[in-house]
Amino acid sequence: MQVIFQPMGVACAADGGESILALAERAGVAIERVCGGRGTCGKCLVRVSGEVSEVTEAERHFLSPQALADGYRLACQARALADLEIVVPDVSRVAEVSILTGGVANDLTLDPWVSRHTLSVPPATLDDPVADWEAVRRLWEQEGLGALRPTLRAMRELPAALRANGGQITLLQVDDEVVRVEPGERVDPLLGIAYDIGTTTVVGYLMDLETGQELSVASELNPQTRYGDDVVSRIQHADEHPQGIETLQRAIVETLGRILIDTTAQIQVQPDDVLAITVVGNTTMQHLLLGISPTYLAQSPYVPAVTRAVNLKAAEIGLEAHPDAHVWVMPSIAGWVGGDTVGLLLATGIYEQDEVALAIDIGTNGEMALGSRQRLITCSAAAGPAFEGAHISCGMRAAQGAIDTVEIDHKVHWTAIGGGMPRGICGSGLVDVIGELLRVGVIDPRGKLVEPGVVETAGYPALAAQIEGENRHRSFAVVSPDEGAEGRPVLLTQRDIRELQLAKGAIRSGIEILMRELGVGADDVRRVYLAGAFGNYVRPESAVAIGMVPHFRRAEMLAVGNAAGSGAKMALLSRTARARAIELLVQVEYLELSGRPDFQEQFAEAMLF
Ligand code: FES
Repeated sequence: MQVIFQPMGVACAADGGESILALAERAGVAIERVCGGRGTCGKCLVRVSGEVSEVTEAERHFLSPQALADGYRLACQARALADLEIVVPDVSRVAEVSILTGGVANDLTLDPWVSRHTLSVPPATLDDPVADWEAVRRLWEQEGLGALRPTLRAMRELPAALRANGGQITLLQVDDEVVRVEPGERVDPLLGIAYDIGTTTVVGYLMDLETGQELSVASELNPQTRYGDDVVSRIQHADEHPQGIETLQRAIVETLGRILIDTTAQIQVQPDDVLAITVVGNTTMQHLLLGISPTYLAQSPYVPAVTRAVNLKAAEIGLEAHPDAHVWVMPSIAGWVGGDTVGLLLATGIYEQDEVALAIDIGTNGEMALGSRQRLITCSAAAGPAFEGAHISCGMRAAQGAIDTVEIDHKVHWTAIGGGMPRGICGSGLVDVIGELLRVGVIDPRGKLVEPGVVETAGYPALAAQIEGENRHRSFAVVSPDEGAEGRPVLLTQRDIRELQLAKGAIRSGIEILMRELGVGADDVRRVYLAGAFGNYVRPESAVAIGMVPHFRRAEMLAVGNAAGSGAKMALLSRTARARAIELLVQVEYLELSGRPDFQEQFAEAMLF
């Protein structure tokens, strides 16, 4: 059997019985799969010509009878039974994501864990037939460099290097281990790479360890999105498939390898030249990188297998850097407050400030920390994927064609990423549009889209005309079909508003409970750091307007970009920062929200606008 995917024109052979999603994966065709192929997101829409399996319950839930009659199916549900032609519509194609690679630059004293030592070793003679390493050791000790610990690979390199340049060699040392020996005096920069493994995107920053300069950056979509967009679907994938953990680990390690090749090629050096590596990610991403089962992270009491920093060699996880390059994985605080939050704390320096600050990274989970040098508390609020555009009818990630800002006077004004006609709405656009509709009274404080008549009477006839349907089925057309890509409108439905209420309610409850625990009010908070892509793009006024964050009247609001990545860079450039990250595990308190008796009540209140 043969299956052809259009409009890519990619063909793939099929045995029959495989899902279209599995075939697409084999053919290298990227289809949206927010739920990881479980039939619960409805995002993997395709149009099929040819014989496929019976329509499933999940398809009946997401597709109208008309859509089914037109040949639309969910790729994860429909199985190929004969030759097929499959059209992947624009909405289901994985778009290029605009990835945030900027971040805060924190003042830092360079103190890298890679160093170089050039030595001129006198040759052995018949009178003094000293072994090569012993000759090196003599000089090493004379120079007060401490204990000399070469790796086996370095031992192999020494004899030839020693004789290639009249006894002059350069030893490259990572922490207390000599990992490389080169003939002559090496002047090339010492290199390290800091990785930030996000649930959606992975970024690598190649750094000059002696100057602290960022030499190149590369990023890719996290390939594990293939197995589910969110952390929970990936944990389920790891659990439910015999080789699940290995598959997820291999996928991420290969991506780190490609990023390494890309960043080193940009400055014309070899991946082998990179000797120090740091990694940050949420606890699940870090577990999967290490090939450790994340199963128990998803089960109460949500404990990780490891929280301490992990030191290993690149070869141990199959990463194609220098095999003896040291990889340092950031410590995590708890199952849902990971190394990325430790990176955020390092980058903002909130742990050493006198005044109270809030640092918050909003994604599928809102990880947050509140406090100062006296006391610092963290928690994680399960916001769900609404801020990333999932479970929202016209939601999408912050990619080409996503509406990212909205303003309303008597009409709706929007901007879309990359210009052009909008295809959907991303998290920051969603927060904006709901904030603005609340302000003009199209949405009431309980979150209900009001009747068009009421909006018209309030003096907004154009907005009233954009409201359609009744009660639970009411929606607001942010973009009309004439303005939208492929003649499709961008709608905000009553259900979308409820999804956003759940998400923002979770974040707000987390903040309120942290404030209560610390015994401070909104006016005591002097700085608010908003991290991550969403934090960078969302307008603070809109976040306040929808009540996602309290009105911090005396606080400075700072978008800090990819703070987790900045933390990874700091740990790469400074042994002190690395040690600080480890100490933070002792200093920082963790609060498990689901264990708080006041959480439900707080959450119900925080859902209101
Ligand atoms: S419904 Fe098919 S991937 Fe989610």
